Amino acid sequence: MGHLLVEGLLGVVRVFLLLGAAFRTVQAGDFALVADLHNGTIYAGSMGRGLADIAPLPLNDVKRPVAVDYDPIDRMVYWSDLESLPFPRISRAHLNGSSQMIVVNQLHLPDGLALDVEARMMYWTDGIIGYIGRVRMDGTGGRETIVDGLDQPRTIITDHENGFIYWTDWGNSSKIERADFNGSNRMTLVSDNLVWPNGVVIDGDKLYWCDANLDKIERSDLLGNNRELLIDLTSYTNIHPFDLAVYGDYVYWTDWGYVTLIRVHTSGVGAQNYGPHTFQRSGGLHIEKEPSYCDSTPCHNGATCVNVINGFSCICPASYQGITCFEDPCGSGPCANGATCTILPTSGFNCQCPSGYAGPTCMIEKSYVSAIAGGGCGLAFLILVLFGVFVVRRRIQNGGRTVQVPFNMDLNVEGKTNDGEAQQGLNNPTHQHETSVRQSWQALGHPPPPPHVSAPDPIYMDMNRSVP
Ligand SMILES: *[C@@H]1O[C@H](CO)[C@@H](O)[C@H](O)[C@H]1NC(C)=O
Ligand SMILES: *[C@@H]1O[C@H](CO)[C@@H](O)[C@H](O)[C@H]1NC(C)=O
Ligand SMILES: *[C@@H]1O[C@H](CO)[C@@H](O)[C@H](O)[C@H]1NC(C)=O
Ligand SMILES: *[C@@H]1O[C@H](CO)[C@@H](O)[C@H](O)[C@H]1NC(C)=O
Repeated sequence: MGHLLVEGLLGVVRVFLLLGAAFRTVQAGDFALVADLHNGTIYAGSMGRGLADIAPLPLNDVKRPVAVDYDPIDRMVYWSDLESLPFPRISRAHLNGSSQMIVVNQLHLPDGLALDVEARMMYWTDGIIGYIGRVRMDGTGGRETIVDGLDQPRTIITDHENGFIYWTDWGNSSKIERADFNGSNRMTLVSDNLVWPNGVVIDGDKLYWCDANLDKIERSDLLGNNRELLIDLTSYTNIHPFDLAVYGDYVYWTDWGYVTLIRVHTSGVGAQNYGPHTFQRSGGLHIEKEPSYCDSTPCHNGATCVNVINGFSCICPASYQGITCFEDPCGSGPCANGATCTILPTSGFNCQCPSGYAGPTCMIEKSYVSAIAGGGCGLAFLILVLFGVFVVRRRIQNGGRTVQVPFNMDLNVEGKTNDGEAQQGLNNPTHQHETSVRQSWQALGHPPPPPHVSAPDPIYMDMNRSVP
């Protein structure tokens, strides 16, 4: 069942690989991952299609997943499971279910999980022991406790650019804190008027969080100052925001009281359901933006970077070569015997030999040339020299001018539909959403997707737990 659905999803993905090329600038591969605690499922769906293609990932033995994150480098999803046996643990797998493995085991309440993809480290919170741990993303090298003595830590996020981790604590004295990646320089950012800060996320220079007790979404700067209310949700029945993500002009969140994602414009106007009725109890949310590979300025020496589908391409200036135009042809010291190497204006290099030496790389002693030229080996030596010239010419010709680096995403889907289409009023049924998604499919010249089966209304809400 799960496999069928995912194959359906990947089928759609394949179709749109072609379209993706034409629609590259709209980040066609953006997708959301949502952990459903009660269904025991992690769902994936493309943002460009308003989650119309949402499907469970074919993972094994997922019982009560709560936190979820994604590594675009190895293309793996990471999740924590509160009820895996014999112990709660954090696992990872490719989106197609392959290479599933446990990253850390024997945890107690791993409510939060965050990857520092650049440093290849994984951080997690444990709400029973009250600590933040970290381990290499492949699980090797042993685990380390970097912050302890916490009360009820929940979400954790990483900010590699500024060098901080941020986390929420919904215990006796609720707060949002930050520290260096090694846990030092701990600092409380927000603590007033905070009760159950479930989710926290950074978007640019803003920190957003949701409070499931005060039913608010708020934001501040990265130091917790200039705090402002984004939306007051107290008038929405059964609202219980859990985790949030900022994507485009909207803040999206999972909510224990609702069977869809919900989103609100970053201006704070209007909350809307987003996507089909899928969830029994949605927890961790991660929206993966298809990377713009040129953003990391991978090309050197003034090369022009071009985003190509799922990768980048460096157009090297004259004389430089290699995938990122880093190699200057003289860099490897190709000229022998103290010869001067000059980069040729087009490509390759030229060795200016000191007196007494000759040949393309000045390897040949002239006296030796004349000595053997008089002997019987002249022909053999000439062949040797010609061969040397040939090798150097080959090196020059192979100096890559334009190299494409493939980087295939697992989920690569169509260009975004009109952003306003995949939405509906918060208290309205999904019908309008479906109609618009079907229309957008038809507009793109594709057969409409089959109508989805809605989860039963009224919305799901577990009244037995009073904590977030
Ligand atoms: C999860 O939801 C799917 C339908 O989307 C359903 O078939 C399955 O039985 C559910 N699993 C649980 C454990 O509720
Ligand atoms: C699953 O996905 C990974 C990463 O995208 C890929 O390397 C692997 O070949 C895929 N496996 C199958 C069976 O499709
Ligand atoms: C939180 O409050 C409870 C009950 O008042 C107390 O037992 C517990 O020690 C407190 N925890 C912390 C970390 O202060
Ligand atoms: C922790 O990291 C900070 C910032 O990188 C560094 O200044 C500090 O020396 C580190 N502390 C320890 C104990 O490693």
